[in-house]
Order: sequence, then structure tokens, then C-alpha cells
Amino acid sequence: MNYGDIPMRRPLVMGNWKLNGNKTMVAKLIKNLATGLNGVEGVDVAIAPPVMYLDLAEQLLGKAESKVTLGAQNVDIHLSGAFTGDISLEMLKDFGVTHIIIGHSERREYHKESDEFIAKKFILLKKNGLIPVLCIGESDAQNAANETLAVCARQLDAIINIQDVRVLHGAIIAYEPIWAIGTGKAATAKEAQRIHAAIRAYIAEKSEDVAQNVIIQYGGSVKLENAAAYFAQPDIDGALIGGAALNAESFVSIIKAAADTKNSY
Ligand code: PGA
Repeated sequence: MNYGDIPMRRPLVMGNWKLNGNKTMVAKLIKNLATGLNGVEGVDVAIAPPVMYLDLAEQLLGKAESKVTLGAQNVDIHLSGAFTGDISLEMLKDFGVTHIIIGHSERREYHKESDEFIAKKFILLKKNGLIPVLCIGESDAQNAANETLAVCARQLDAIINIQDVRVLHGAIIAYEPIWAIGTGKAATAKEAQRIHAAIRAYIAEKSEDVAQNVIIQYGGSVKLENAAAYFAQPDIDGALIGGAALNAESFVSIIKAAADTKNSY
């Protein structure tokens, strides 16, 4: 079966603001996003501001009648209770959040989040009708050792093995080679396509239907200059963007590149 000739998957471009922003920046960025995206069709857009600014972002997106959806950068595995400093999915829901990034390499590294812990989050989000944006990807050393696919498979298996491959249905996978995140050293579009196709094929071994439908974003130093080349690849269904999402002009241009490239099939 041929994956990708027919655009069955609606592209998703998501901005991961990480630990950046303040009230003024949130207001300006959302206002400029809403204006810039006016009339842009055929691509879903989400932003994940720091949790602190979700309330403000929700209000501003509503006021601007924007179709941009709200995401979060993390969630705890508990729903309530004595867990100082944590944020539950019910709280995120309360602020209109639908997409939640989990398994980002920065959390895997700095917060020692394991595959098993991330899998718990994934299952919990799915059970509660939220959309996990599951980041997977290999380090520089793993890349050099040709372990990319094994790493991605292991990170996916941690989730699939708890339930069934169908748990991926409706979720988002973000393939983010760690060596490309924030480094300016992006994977080439061809190389990213090769990995995306391999990830999809790995899922297809378990379910063709899930593989055909699951969105696989690329992430890691996506900029306006390289965005269209990624979106032209049949197995790259969008992007998860850090640095370039902090500027409305560059983020809007990348989203437009996705809309143009994906809708021109
Ligand atoms: P970057 O970050 O676009 O700044 O490389 C991507 C990410 O971490 O999701």
C-alpha cells in the first residue's frame, strides 16, 4: 500500500514555547497570529505556552475568534492530591487545552522521565479525551550508532505494549532527533522522510489503519527556510516548532508553507 500520495492526514503545526514569554509577549504574539492566520485553511495550528499563561492565552484566542488550539507542555499522572508543583489534565482541560506534549527530550533528560512514565501520561490523556503529542527521537550518539529506529520503536512500544497499537489512533507523534533540537542543525528533509516512513511502517506491522491515519510531525530546528521541504515529504504531516514559534511572522510563514505544500497535492 502506498502511504502519502493521498493527503488523508490533516497537517498540524504546533508551537512549543518552552520556558519563554511574559504577559506582553503572549498578548502580542496571539494578536499577530490571529491576524496572520486569517484565511489560512487546510492546516491545524496549536500553541503550547507556559502553563502560567494558558488562562490569558485562552481568553485572547477567544476574543480574536482564532482557530488556533491550545496546548500544554507537560501534565502530571495524577488527577489531584498531594503532588506539590504538579498540574493535572483536569486543570489543563479547564483552560481549554486539547493537545499535550509528552516525552519531550528536555523532560526525558532534565526531569529523568522514563518511557514507562511517559506511557502512563499517554494512556491517561487518551482515556480522558485529550490529544497526546508524543515526542520520540534519538540522541547524537544513537544516531551515529545507527540506532534511530530502535530508539523510536522502543519509545513507541512502551505505549503500545500497555494496551494495543490502536491507542495511537487520534494521537500525534513528533519525531524530534535530539541533536536537531535548538541547534540549528536540522535533519535534511530526505533523512527525516526516511525515518518517518520507517516509523509509519513499524506501526503498520501492527495496524495498517492506525499507521495510515496517525500524524507524524517533524521537530528540530524547523525554520521558514527549511519548512516547505519537510512538508513536501509524504510522511511528514506537520511540525513541532520551538524557537521559530516565538515570532509570529516566522510561525505564520511556516504554517502558510504547510497549507500551500500539503494542499497542492
Ligand atoms: P526547536 O525546538 O524548533 O527550537 O529546535 C523544537 C522542539 O523542541 O520541539
